[in-house]
Amino acid sequence: MKFFVDTADTSEIAELAATGLLDGVTTNPTLISKSGKDFIAVTREICALVDGPVSAEVVALDHRQMMREADVLRAIAPNVCIKVPLTVDGLKTCKALSDDGTMVNVTLCFSANQALLAAKAGASFISPFIGRHDDNGFDGMDLIRDIRLIYDNYAFETEILAASIRHPVHVLEAARIGADVGTMPAKVIWSLFNHVLTDKGIEGFLKDWATTGQTIVEAIEEAAGEKPAG
Ligand code: G3P
Repeated sequence: MKFFVDTADTSEIAELAATGLLDGVTTNPTLISKSGKDFIAVTREICALVDGPVSAEVVALDHRQMMREADVLRAIAPNVCIKVPLTVDGLKTCKALSDDGTMVNVTLCFSANQALLAAKAGASFISPFIGRHDDNGFDGMDLIRDIRLIYDNYAFETEILAASIRHPVHVLEAARIGADVGTMPAKVIWSLFNHVLTDKGIEGFLKDWATTGQTIVEAIEEAAGEKPAG
């Protein structure tokens, strides 16, 4: 499963990129607004921090204007992925851009039929919003499951990008079903590292190691004559 971080905060992105585990970034108009920065400048900065796709969203509602906005966005960097809403005009734009070799992320997907349309329009990614689905009394995981089934039935190459992930259980369930990508806030990615038994285990090992009075690096250096014993 690829991990994308859902943010336009460049310090969060840089910190996660340093782990070597970050595969891409998704932004949206809300996240760009939260960054308080110029959208072109911040998108360029983000694209330089990761090698993978960086989703940048159009805000126009009609196809012609979406294409004009996409031209501005895709000129920012080669790893920009144009994000379009799941509407008739959004999918027309998706088809035109993907025919032209541009990555497209179709966003605001809330049904498996919408996801089927996006795949037919050549989307690189489909973004079903799990959290918002759950918030409204639907089961976000059923949606991911249905899309996985349909895409596998027809061997569509569109990647399922589980979006609107709110907590680690969403990540676990989406990974079990076989979502190709999960995009989530930085704090959710960091929380995946944690387990109380890992912390307790380290504490126990270090306590026992201290009783040996030994060191690892210094002992090797001494044996190699790089450092005087003592
Ligand atoms: O970027 C799209 C999506 O991940 C938004 O998530 O938490 O605003 O529903 P959320």
